[in-house]
Parts: sequence; structure tokens; C-alpha cells
Amino acid sequence: MIVVMKPNCSEAAIEHVLRFLEQEGFTGHLSRGVERTVIGVIGSVNVQNPPGKGMITPALGEALEAFPEVEGVFRVSKPYKLASREFHPDDTVVEVPVACVAGGTVRIGGPAVVMMAGPCTVENEKQLMTTAEAVRKAGAVILRGGAFKPSTSPYGFRGLGEEGLKLLAKASREFGMAVVTEVMTPADVPLVCEYADILQIGTRNMQNYMLLDEVGRAQKPVLLKRGMAATIEEWLLAAEYILSQGNRAVILCERGIRTFEKSTRNTMDLSAIPLVKQLSHLPIVADPSQGTGRRDLVAPMTLAAVAAGCDGLLIEVHPNPEVALKDGAQSLTTEQFAELMPRAEAVAQAIGRSFV
Ligand code: E4P
Ligand code: PEP
Repeated sequence: MIVVMKPNCSEAAIEHVLRFLEQEGFTGHLSRGVERTVIGVIGSVNVQNPPGKGMITPALGEALEAFPEVEGVFRVSKPYKLASREFHPDDTVVEVPVACVAGGTVRIGGPAVVMMAGPCTVENEKQLMTTAEAVRKAGAVILRGGAFKPSTSPYGFRGLGEEGLKLLAKASREFGMAVVTEVMTPADVPLVCEYADILQIGTRNMQNYMLLDEVGRAQKPVLLKRGMAATIEEWLLAAEYILSQGNRAVILCERGIRTFEKSTRNTMDLSAIPLVKQLSHLPIVADPSQGTGRRDLVAPMTLAAVAAGCDGLLIEVHPNPEVALKDGAQSLTTEQFAELMPRAEAVAQAIGRSFV
């Protein structure tokens, strides 16, 4: 349920509604838009609640409608509430401090498109520094790189752990880029927060609810990848976990889903980009590397994702993909990445946007 307050309503009136909700066993989540303040009402299915407490009912709507500065009360038909457009009609813009840009802040979800690039995996200092320098020179402003790596096989490379995080932080200092890196367990969230600017939740963990709760309590933006077998609704419900813990800085990432098609590693669902924009206020970026699994398809799918309206890209780049410890087949060379950037910029310009 959402409560729409009257334009220019007083702070006291907002506070009054929030206090009423709390007394009745609900949580009120505030969304201050350009025109209106909206309060999302989240019930609580808690076995310790007395019967009826915390349950959204028509009587609750009627009680809220009686508040003098409430304009209207509406049921949100979707199972996700805080992630829905109804709750937050304006686009959410996630701000990330980035030293290499003028003004020192990158806004993901605003008019500009944001390039995040780097190696799939941090392998060693030389590989990371070479890649970071090249992608920065070509125009990327956020450095990607895995220190804690998911691996289908237990014998595959699983990342350098904290050593990898330290190298990412070093590259970040050297090139002024922000860092996005994956966190795989709730216990690692504080550690990864020390080094990362954006916490990445990988496809395999999109429905790891304890992890979603934990990053929801963290004070860092979260890049939430789509589960490889997740519907858009399941994905937005995963985002809802993070939002409902109080973290509003959620960035969605379309990275392809499993289908019967075997010629690509995943089927990149480009229609998810404009569809998510309709359903949700959250920014959405695209990962054409995981989305295709094929270096030759990364550039065309990058251009297509920009044309479809994505707010950013996450692209794997390696100085020598032939010897990459992970995902070499889908990693661009530094030269290929540099060639791609002006083409992506041209598509962005064609739809009235540009890259940061
Ligand atoms: C992402 O970078 C993953 O770690 C990687 O794609 C996993 O690949 P795998 O499933 O072959 O181990
Ligand atoms: C990654 O980007 O490093 C990664 C592991 O991707 P995904 O979770 O999409 O497979």
C-alpha cells in the first residue's frame, strides 16, 4: 500500500503518519519526489504479532485516508513495493564518488551512461594495473574485478580474496576510478565494504536472502545481477529485500538468462531493460560479457543495450584474454575495448544521452 501525501504537506504530517504506522505494526518507507512525498507501507508477517497486526487491510487504508494531509491511499498490485514505479515515480539516481570525473561524483540512473570495465578476476598486480590504466584511458570510470569469485567447479580459480581487494583499492587510488566487486557471503560484507565502492551480488546469489539482507544494511550501493534463471519479478523481489532493509542505492544488472540456446553462454534479455524501466525506478546496467559469453558478441550487444536505454555497462577486459584465469572467451582485449567506446558513445548520442 502507498500513501500519497498532499503537495507541500508539513513534516509534522509525515511524521504523524509514520508514527501511526509504527504503532499499528507497519514500517513506513519515505520517498520524496519532485512533486509529492509518498510513504510505502510494508506489513510484517511475524508469527509473534497479535492476529491482524501488521496485515494490510481495507480498514488500514480508510484510517490513513482520514489523515488531513493525506491525498490518497493506493494498493500496489505488484508483489514488490519499494522497487515499484508506483512507490517512487521518479528515477532513482545512485551517486558514487569517483575521483577521476569532474565534480567527483558519478550518477548512475541519470542522463549519462556509465562505463564499468576491468578484468573478470583480479589475477595479479600487473594484470590489474595494465587493464585499469587501459580502460580508464578509453573512458571507463568504474573498475570492475572479482576478488571473491564464484566458480562452477571447485577446482576453478576462486579469486585472491582480500589480496585482490587490496589490489583493486590500489588501482582505484592510482587511476581515480571507483571499484565494483562481488561479495559472496554475509560474513564478508564488512570486509568488502572497506575496499569497494559498489557491492556486486552475482547471478548465483540473487536469491541468497541472508546476503541480500546484509547488503541491505550496508552503507554502500549494491549492483544486483539478475539470477540466471530468474524472472523479472523474482529479480525485483530480490531488490526489494535490499531496499526493505533501508539501502536505497540499488542498481540492477541484466546479465543474460539460461535458455535452450547453446550457441551463447546465456541469452541476453535486452527487453528487460525497457521493461524494468517501466516497472521500477531503479537504474539498470547491462553485462554483455556474461550475457553472451563470446568476445565477438560483446560489442554489438553493448551498442544494443545502450540503444535499449541501459544506464551503464559492465564489461570484462583482459590484456591477454588467451591466458585469463577466468572468462577469457568473453573478455575484450584492451584494444577492442578502446575501439568500442567511441561507437557506444555514438549510439548514446543518437538517443540523446552521452557517456560520463
Ligand atoms: C564470473 O566471472 C564467474 O566467476 C565465472 O563466469 C564463472 O565461470 P564458471 O561457471 O565457468 O566457473
Ligand atoms: C562477474 O561479473 O564477475 C560474475 C561473476 O558475473 P555473474 O554473476 O553475472 O556470472
